[in-house]
Amino acid sequence: MARLTINGKSHEVNVSPTTPLLWAIREQVGLTGTKYGCGIAQCGSCTVHVDGAAVRSCILPVSAAEGKQITTIEGLASGGTLHKVQKAWLDNEVPQCGYCQAGMIMAVAALLKAKPKPTDADIDAGITNICRCGTFQQVREAIHAAAKA
Ligand code: FES
Ligand code: FES
Repeated sequence: MARLTINGKSHEVNVSPTTPLLWAIREQVGLTGTKYGCGIAQCGSCTVHVDGAAVRSCILPVSAAEGKQITTIEGLASGGTLHKVQKAWLDNEVPQCGYCQAGMIMAVAALLKAKPKPTDADIDAGITNICRCGTFQQVREAIHAAAKA
């Protein structure tokens, strides 16, 4: 058993302490916006925020997330208002199949918090998520648009 705070709500999850956070979020709490891609911290599709930092939840044990504030894509908008990254994504028509996009958006939201006006080099260094549909150019444009918002 573990107690997790996800999107401001407390949840009791019935998993072992070593279970990856991703599975607690998806299978126990039922928030399925966060996706499983590689399971080895390479693709970023499972990215969530833990105490405001982007983490790859497929390799983070539940025990390391207890007592922390976890935010998933479902909790990124606030009070019905989209986060500026979500808005830029819509305006720039970024998604193709969509599978990688929740993780991509969470990674970008954390990047913009740390670096509000990222350069292309900052984006290359900070956003290492993989998109099998190849939306990288649209992602870059949307990041710059969100940075201006
Ligand atoms: S599923 Fe976590 S990084 Fe790929
Ligand atoms: S939009 Fe399809 S994998 Fe990125």
